Parts: sequence; C-alpha cells; structure tokens
Amino acid sequence: MGVTDRRSQEIYDVVGIGFGPSNMSLAIALEEHGASAPQHPVRSHFFERQPSFGWHRNMLLPSTTMQISFLKDLVTFRNPVSRFGFISFLHASNRLVQFVNNQDFFPTRQEFHQYLEWAAAGLADRVTYGAEVTSIRPVAEAGAGAPDLLEVEVRGSDGTTSTVTARNVAVSTGLVPRLPEGVSADERVWHSSEFLTKFNAQAPEDLKSVAVVGAGQSAAEITRFLHDALPHAQVSAVIPSYGYSVADDTPFANQVFDPAAVDEYYFGSEKAQDAFWRYHRNTNYSVVDSDVIRSLYQRSYDEQVRDSRRLHFRNLTRVDAVERVGSGARVVLRSLLDDRTEELTVDALVFATGYDGLDPARLLGDFDRHFQRDAAGRHRVERDYRLVAASGLTCGVYVQGGTEHSHGLSSSLLSNIAVRSGEIADSIVLRRTERELNRTSAAEREPSAA
Ligand code: FDA
Ligand code: NAP
Repeated sequence: MGVTDRRSQEIYDVVGIGFGPSNMSLAIALEEHGASAPQHPVRSHFFERQPSFGWHRNMLLPSTTMQISFLKDLVTFRNPVSRFGFISFLHASNRLVQFVNNQDFFPTRQEFHQYLEWAAAGLADRVTYGAEVTSIRPVAEAGAGAPDLLEVEVRGSDGTTSTVTARNVAVSTGLVPRLPEGVSADERVWHSSEFLTKFNAQAPEDLKSVAVVGAGQSAAEITRFLHDALPHAQVSAVIPSYGYSVADDTPFANQVFDPAAVDEYYFGSEKAQDAFWRYHRNTNYSVVDSDVIRSLYQRSYDEQVRDSRRLHFRNLTRVDAVERVGSGARVVLRSLLDDRTEELTVDALVFATGYDGLDPARLLGDFDRHFQRDAAGRHRVERDYRLVAASGLTCGVYVQGGTEHSHGLSSSLLSNIAVRSGEIADSIVLRRTERELNRTSAAEREPSAA
C-alpha cells in the first residue's frame, strides 16, 4: 500500500509535517486531549522524511550533554503526569535510581536521544517514516466558498507520491543548515549537521589536517571530538570572535525561555522585544557551554606545556573562499585584525556555521501569498502559532519554529515545546468546536428539506 492510500478518504483535523520533538510533543498533547474527550478525538497523522526516528544524529558526539534540564522534556511543563515524561522513560529503562544518584540535570545527548526514541516508539501508529511532504495546497470542500481544507502531497521512500487532506497542518520541519555564500558541501567539505556520517566515511589516517569554522556550540564540540578522534592530526579552529563566548544559562537569564516569557515577548512593545535580543542573545546564539570551553583551553595549555602543538586557534578570522584541491580543500582565511588573507590546506573542513530558522514558505510555494507578512517581510503569526491568513481561509497552518520574531527566543529550542504544543492542540480543538457550532446554527436557519 502507498504511503497514504489507505488514508486518502479521510479528512484529518491536523497533519503534522516532520516528526522531531516539536511534533512528537503535539502528537502526545492530541492523544492526551483524546483521552479526556474519547467521544470526539482529534484525527491526526504525522509524516517524517527520515527512515526512522532520529534527532540531530550527526551530532551525537560522545560526552555531549543537553543544554536544558531533563524536565524540559516533551510533556512535563504541560502535563507532569503524562506517560511520556523523561522520568517515566528512566523508570521504564530501570535507571531512575541511578539517574538520581548521578545528580545531574543535564543528561547526555545520547541518553536524551534514547528517551525520544522510546517516546517515538509509543507513538508509532501516528507517524509514517520515509515520507517527505513536498507541498501544501488549499482546496475548498463542496459548497464552501473560501478554501477550508489543505491537500498535503507526500513522497514516499519508493518515490511514489500521494495526497492526504486536512483542516490544519503543523509545520515542524526544523532548522535549515547554513553554509557561507559560495561554499558547497561534498565528501571533504562538511556542514556540522552531517558531521558523523561524513566523518565515519573517511579512514582516520587520511585526515592529517582538519579545520572547523565557527565559534558556536557545534564548532567547539566538533573541535574537541576531532582532537580526541584524530590523535595524529593537526586541528585548526577558525573562530570569528577573539575567543569562544560562554552560553549564559544562569537562572535569571534562563527566564527568557520560560513559558511566561512567550506572552511578554509576543505582546511586548518593539522596544521590549529588542531588549530580549540585546541582553539575552548570548543564551543561545554563537555561544558555548563553559565545560567545553574549559576542556579546549586545557588541551591547548597541556600542548604548550609539552611544547608539542597540534590544536591551533585562529581567532578574529573568517572564511573568504574555499577551493577543492586533490582530496582535500584549500581555504582562504581573512584576519579581522589587519584584513590580511592566509591560505590553509586541510584534508577535511567542517563548517559549524549555524542554521537558518524554519521558513514555511518553502513548503507553501504559491499558497504562501495567502499569508500576511509584517513590514520586515516576516510571516505574521497569531499567538496560537497559526499563520495569519490574508483572506478568508478557514484551514490553518501552524508553525513550530521560525517564530523568533513573534514569540521570542525559545522558538527553535526544546524549552517550551510541551506548553507550545498544548496551546496548538487547544487551538485546533477550539476552532473545530467553533466551526461545528457555526455549521449547526447555519443548518438550523435553513428551511427543512423534508
Ligand atoms: P527537528 O529538526 O528536531 O525535527 C524536524 C523534523 O522534520 C526532522 O526529523 C526532519 O527530518 C523532518 N522534516 C523536515 N522536512 C520535512 C518534510 N518536508 N517532510 C517530512 N519531514 C520533514 N535545543 C535545546 O533546547 N536543547 C538542546 O540541548 C539542543 N541541542 C541541540 C543540538 C544540536 C546539534 C542542534 C543542531 C540543535 C539543538 N537544539 C537544542 C535545538 C533544536 O532545534 C531542538 O533541539 C529540536 O531539534 C527542535 O525540534 P523540532 O521538532 O522543531 O525540529
Ligand atoms: P551558531 O550558534 O549559530 O554558531 C555559528 C557560528 O559560526 C558562529 O560563531 C558564527 O559567527 C560562525 N560563522 C558563521 N559564518 C562564518 C564564517 N564565514 N567564518 C567564520 N565563522 C562563521 O550554530 P551552532 O553552534 O550550530 O548552534 C545552533 C544551535 O544548536 C544552538 O541552539 C546550539 O545551542 C544548539 N546546539 C546544541 C548542542 C548540544 O545540545 N550539546 C550541540 C550543538 C548545537 P557569527 O556569530 O559571527 O555569525
């Protein structure tokens, strides 16, 4: 059976695009709504393009830890007694006691990945893997004026396409890897999002000289990993700042990720919103956890003591150009100190140069013109994460991610997903109830056909 053949007759209340933590959290919120209203559950299905569940698998480096508390899992802030909480996972894994003994709020990324896989397994009947959504089109139900349904086109892993119909979609397709202009990735030039796959495809002895570009968490973690994994290699870190800056995760600053901060940002003045960014950008962007910074500095100092250096930091430096030479790459580096350029030839070059936010326009195509944009050209988004429609559309496009401008700093993070997905689930249910009430009153106004 094709990816969606068996569902093609159904109209879903919501189709979720992507099955990362955001939409997993939504699937759970909808399930828990269904448990409280079993007579009228929300009909939903999710499509994920990966062949099985995976959360930033290419960055599952040894010893890397989460940047949020384990209590900011898929559910706890919305429903602390959900069966999908991190504590339930620990209990099911027979590790709750040991986890508590370990006295650490920040599990490894490996362990959090295990948690997410465990939760995904519990939601298996709601998701189709190996299914990439390629477009979303509006359609009108027979007799309706404005489009009130969405046709979602899905390409299966065997290349066949099919469509499903929904009243709403939840676009949660995640961050988009960013390379500097003019750079393209290949087998020796990598973006951090593909790091482990590309690294594991090489024989370590072929990598005698490597460089990592960027001064964020990904860059620092990859530099540390390469220094460990390639004990024979020269490892260069090309960093645009004077040195790595620390991610501020102290308690007062951390409040910018609280659920309450979303309202304060959303309804705040332009000046207030600007202050969030001016004072608190260093909670997340281009910053590194202090333990990783210290571990890199310690290595560098140890090499200095031993007078044997292979870890090199090129600070105040950006990449001007990259050229493939032989099996490696030649990179032109420009120093911000004196504007001088220098060439570095390496066997592999990793761009840990960050990500762009989710942009729903990629999927919406032509349909995107139905949605309003602000003066800066960004989508206008309602408080319930629904794109503001320009015309009388009654079908909804919800977004999880890509809302930094409207909802604030937690938009691309895990901090608020439990609460956000609960708000989206509530909105879908409320709007469905309103639509049904409108229909009932319209039918009551019609003269009886009998
Ligand atoms: P996510 O990217 O996880 O999932 C999107 C899914 O959609 C993917 O599985 C993708 O395959 C799928 N998809 C995309 N397009 C599709 C299509 N057209 N059709 C079908 N499926 C499609 N944040 C935090 O708060 N704490 C942390 O510790 C970390 N750690 C971290 C590590 C690394 C290496 C990165 C890069 C990022 C983080 N983050 C983070 C931020 C990160 O954005 C966050 O952890 C979640 O991944 C956000 O979950 P989403 O479900 O929104 O996106
Ligand atoms: P990031 O924070 O956006 O950092 C990108 C870095 O690349 C910045 O230092 C940027 O400098 C630099 N850069 C961009 N273009 C460059 C160029 N041409 N030359 C030199 N430097 C350049 O991206 P990230 O580190 O991938 O982090 C993304 C998100 O993932 C964050 O939320 C982070 O916390 C998360 N993450 C979490 C973990 C974990 O949980 N353990 C691990 C990795 C990532 P400018 O600032 O000057 O642009």
